[in-house]
Amino acid sequence: MCGIFGYTGKRDDAGSVVIDGLKNLEYRGYDSWGVACREEKGILVAKDIGKISAVESREFGHTCCLALAHTRWATHGGVTPANAHPHLSRDRTIAVAHNGIIENHEALRKELMQKGYVFLSQTDSEVIPHCIEEEMCAGYPFAEAVRRACLRFHGRYAILAMHEPTGMLVGARTGSPLIVGVGDDGYYVASDIPAFLEHTRTVQYIDDGETVETDGASIVFRDIATGQERQKREVRITWTVEQAQKGEFPHFMLKEIMDQKESIARAVNQDEDAIRRVAEAIRSAKGTFLVGCGTAHKACMAAEYFFSVVSEHHVNVCSAGEFKLYHHFLAPESLLIVVSQSGETADVLEAMNIAKSKGSKVLAIVNVEGSSISRAADYTLLINAGPERAVASTKGLTGQMSVLLLIAYALKHALHEGKTLLLETGALINDMLNPRYVDRISAIASRIKSHEDLYIIGKSWHYPMALESAIKIQEVSYVHAEGFAGGELKHGPIALIEQGTPCIALVGNDEVTADIINNATELKARGALVIGIAPERHAIFDEWLKTPDAAAAQPIVSIIPMQILAYELAVQRGKDPDMPRNLAKSVTVK
Ligand code: AGP
Repeated sequence: MCGIFGYTGKRDDAGSVVIDGLKNLEYRGYDSWGVACREEKGILVAKDIGKISAVESREFGHTCCLALAHTRWATHGGVTPANAHPHLSRDRTIAVAHNGIIENHEALRKELMQKGYVFLSQTDSEVIPHCIEEEMCAGYPFAEAVRRACLRFHGRYAILAMHEPTGMLVGARTGSPLIVGVGDDGYYVASDIPAFLEHTRTVQYIDDGETVETDGASIVFRDIATGQERQKREVRITWTVEQAQKGEFPHFMLKEIMDQKESIARAVNQDEDAIRRVAEAIRSAKGTFLVGCGTAHKACMAAEYFFSVVSEHHVNVCSAGEFKLYHHFLAPESLLIVVSQSGETADVLEAMNIAKSKGSKVLAIVNVEGSSISRAADYTLLINAGPERAVASTKGLTGQMSVLLLIAYALKHALHEGKTLLLETGALINDMLNPRYVDRISAIASRIKSHEDLYIIGKSWHYPMALESAIKIQEVSYVHAEGFAGGELKHGPIALIEQGTPCIALVGNDEVTADIINNATELKARGALVIGIAPERHAIFDEWLKTPDAAAAQPIVSIIPMQILAYELAVQRGKDPDMPRNLAKSVTVK
């Protein structure tokens, strides 16, 4: 959570560079913002609550070559201007932006206060500039002082600090992302690539436990623990500026839903030998575990059905945050498959650490190349969805499910059959996503938008899609939505149904069609308004949204109208679907 972006180099508009760049990272946190610019008179700081997208960047740093900025997702201390970053040292020569949590901040704060340091915020972050200043007072130069201060911090964090007298920009990373963009005109240091994509596509990755120090002309990486210099190679990234922008669409969420016309084909375009090797690793593993969080966890749940139905192979699925006690089942011959769009989710990283401590191998299925998860895994498959900026994951999910379904086919020794099915599914989705289809969903949204409760049912692989539909609707429209396995209704939830309660049934053409139609009939008998998402119309439906028939890829198809419905409900209820309240795109804290 939180976005960090700093620049130093030849440009003299550093303030507007970092503010404009951070607007591309606003998905990381958007309750407050702040910027620090190195001006002639010293460090000038501006910060406030609210969204950085509303800030006019031209007002800041027009005569400065060094600046850093921050968007906040509050953890310690409320959403106030004082708690917004950057925070300054006592002598106002050091400004710091921070992402993550300094777990021992209370002890450090107490120690610093006893030494006369005054705190202006309630954040854990404010100890950072004071600790750096203390190290400098002990005689260490700025970059070394940052490194030494980091040795005092416990927890997972990324820090970016600037020093007014020397013009140095120093970053440190332990668990939260920080990446260097190498430009012709200087160095860009940010939480994520879209911040500097319009300036450079050449990056250097800072690994966990490393610092980076730059004066704008040269750059040095060091090990935090030893201070030893580390060599880095430059990597050219494939994302384009256009992919990271919303173009003609009113929201990123809608753009990313529409991107699914092509993103399935990109996900499927994998190295065939690599997929077969992964299938072989699953076949020979003593226990395969699939973990992810939120939407990615629902992709794992769908994959459990893919492996069962397509390749008759058992896998274990678990939410990454619940994986801790699974360590009893892990051995060096076990395989952990982690699924994550951002590649930065803290609970997933922790699950990886648990597996590694048992000697198990880890395969990552991620979207963001070079992310923490992909770098920590033994092997990575990229889903190639392109940047996903909306907080609600859409094309990330269908890319994850496509890769997992492909692996399930490879496990059945039928990789080409799976690839053909998925490419055909991509074409079906392309046809489905036309303006008339969106209008039809919009009309259904307008029929149900005033209801505060909404239920979605599914069976087999449509059960995780019912759960996922509920997440999408909850997070962007704030409607109370819940997903159930169809058969579970009469064990409790059916008591919630009243006359007119909207209930959505996800239906395919498969061995559970009759069962889920029966479940929908039970809802209808209690007065529910039944909306069917299905390849065929069934008499029980009050409203029907047709989906193409896609065999084992059906859940990939069925979730798309639900994504559009969630989007439409949000917009029609006057909410911003790209920036839902209380949420952030990358969940880098546990
Ligand atoms: C999805 O719409 C959510 N915002 C959220 O559940 C997300 O899927 C989850 O936080 C996992 O993120 P990741 O895929 O980046 O690991």
